[in-house]
Amino acid sequence: MSKIIIANWKLNPSSSADAKKLAKESDVKGLVIAPPFPFLEFVASIIKKAKLGAQDLFWEESGAYTGEVSGTQLKGLCVEYVIIGHSERRMNLGETDEMVAKKVAAAVKDGLIPILCVGETREQNDKNKAVEVIEQEVRIGLSRIAGITSEIIVAYEPIWAIGTGNPDTPENMLKMVKLIQETAGRLNLKVRCIYGGSVKAANAEEFLKYNEIEGALVGGASLRGEEIKEIVKIAAKY
Ligand code: PGA
Repeated sequence: MSKIIIANWKLNPSSSADAKKLAKESDVKGLVIAPPFPFLEFVASIIKKAKLGAQDLFWEESGAYTGEVSGTQLKGLCVEYVIIGHSERRMNLGETDEMVAKKVAAAVKDGLIPILCVGETREQNDKNKAVEVIEQEVRIGLSRIAGITSEIIVAYEPIWAIGTGNPDTPENMLKMVKLIQETAGRLNLKVRCIYGGSVKAANAEEFLKYNEIEGALVGGASLRGEEIKEIVKIAAKY
């Protein structure tokens, strides 16, 4: 299966004019663009080669849940992928592993491909707790979909590497891929593992050259059309 690059725009850009420009510049095969919710519909109408992703969803289909968005609503906007449990949501909004698990299950039920994000803090890493944290986030995050055969992506994104310009090493990522696969395997699941955290065109190849690393989740560098296209081009070589 070919590699996958996810452009996580986070809360950017501010204007729809800039979002339109960036969507046009980034429209290449092999890329999933995950813009903020208000831009989904027009990004869907602009892109011809890239696919569409969302940055979150809620686990209920409808009802009294102010501010939430359902998988069915996202499907209706041509969304195919959804990022779930990003560390910025876990840290800023208190998303727990159990909430993340419900979201993963809702995504699968609605026919969306979940991108489950896991990653340890600098402090947890310093205390040699990374393995424990990742095992738990994967085990609980995937617990409600044990045994399913549809596509699931797990993004290992060490929190200390996100937005810092200092990525993890490919060697550590390969260890994490093994841990994630073993943990998913105990739930009778096969997952695709991708890396996230300060990926840019200059370092993407170091990760993407390995078969086991099936893609990248890119934040900051995805806001520059030329740079994200370069990363996709590197991914296409492998
Ligand atoms: P970054 O973000 O590429 O800016 O480090 C990655 C992410 O948070 O998904």
